[in-house]
Amino acid sequence: MIRLDVDFVRAQFPAFSSAALQGQAFFENAGGSYTCKPVIDRLTRFYHDRKVQPYAPYLASQLGGAEMDEARARLAAMMGVDRDEVSFGPSTSANTFVLAQAVRVWLRGAGGAIVVTNQDHEANSGVWRRLADEGIEVREWRVDPQTGHLDPADLARLLSDGKVKLVCFPHCSNVVAEINPVAEICAMAAAAGAFSCVDGVSYAPHGFPDIPALGADVYLFSAYKTYGPHQGIMVLRRAIGAALPAQGHYFNADVLYKRFTPAGPDHAQVAACAGMADYIDALYVHHFGTEAAAPLARNQAVHDLMRAHEVRLAQPLLDYLAARNDLRLIGPRAAENRAPTVAVALDRAAEPVAAALAGQGIMAGGGDFYAVRPLGALGVDLERGVLRLSFVHYTSQAEVAKLITALDQVL
Ligand SMILES: Cc1ncc(COP(=O)(O)O)c(C=O)c1O
Repeated sequence: MIRLDVDFVRAQFPAFSSAALQGQAFFENAGGSYTCKPVIDRLTRFYHDRKVQPYAPYLASQLGGAEMDEARARLAAMMGVDRDEVSFGPSTSANTFVLAQAVRVWLRGAGGAIVVTNQDHEANSGVWRRLADEGIEVREWRVDPQTGHLDPADLARLLSDGKVKLVCFPHCSNVVAEINPVAEICAMAAAAGAFSCVDGVSYAPHGFPDIPALGADVYLFSAYKTYGPHQGIMVLRRAIGAALPAQGHYFNADVLYKRFTPAGPDHAQVAACAGMADYIDALYVHHFGTEAAAPLARNQAVHDLMRAHEVRLAQPLLDYLAARNDLRLIGPRAAENRAPTVAVALDRAAEPVAAALAGQGIMAGGGDFYAVRPLGALGVDLERGVLRLSFVHYTSQAEVAKLITALDQVL
């Protein structure tokens, strides 16, 4: 079986050879990942050579526009969707905000309902809940207060009267981290006549999605957590994109990727997003020795390599934390059921513990991570917050061992 070559992976990230970061093991990846070299190189080239208004007839402009198109086309191919089904916005929070404006107009006075969860980050929660102020019925799909688990049987009850038009939920939460059965949930929504809006921000860093396999109508993630620049990426399937009223300039309404991104895009960052596809392709070629497979198949193969590595590294950390009686491990104990975003509630405030870990060469954070609703639902003291230890495929076994030693010292 082919295993992820972590040395090769780390060589693609300048952060690992930066003098400023030596001796520091990075465990706040759920907040934002290191950036891969192809993205940095493209960003630098854009600012040096192409930083003009794109799509004009002179060469620098044409190259800039072509690179932006390349980013959209290659990410779309990786995820199995059409190129105009990929939109770039300033952040996932901004993207859901705009979508919610569209849904507000779409459902106002129409008698429909939407489902939100209390497992989501606030970005895929508050904007939808506010629609209740407009008379739109908002139904909450609630987590189990002990485990944080979302039970699809509860969703089935919320969908049973056929009134729900939109189901918003996370691929995995940024504190519970359990991987939700997205394909099953999207199929349930579709069968009930509802669209699905999946927050993939906490999942996509662990492998880019195969959108047709998931069946999501909207899938959102943040490129600054997937080794890219600070952009929100939104996959909007054609049917929902056509059903919702456009929120951009009226004369752009017939271009799907312009319908829900009213601001002018950040040209350099959009172009640099092609570097994420370069990175996935480089991993594929390194491990499989050929580029012959289609982009979606390459992406899936790399996804599986990343996940297998993460699961191998996460299990000892989860076992170590579960065996301690001075903390509460949030989310599943089995690594294969979750992302390696490991939140623990302590017998004291989390932030000073994170600060103490920093003294041991561990970069981690403490707080609520804008997951105020899920932590509240789990009965976590929000003043103390949680300590969150999150890693990705570039993390090494030695770093996880260092983390466990540091936790032993600090706790
Ligand atoms: C699960 C999840 N969803 C949404 C967001 C918001 O993303 P953005 O910062 O791009 O608005 C975050 C950010 O941390 C997140 O973790």
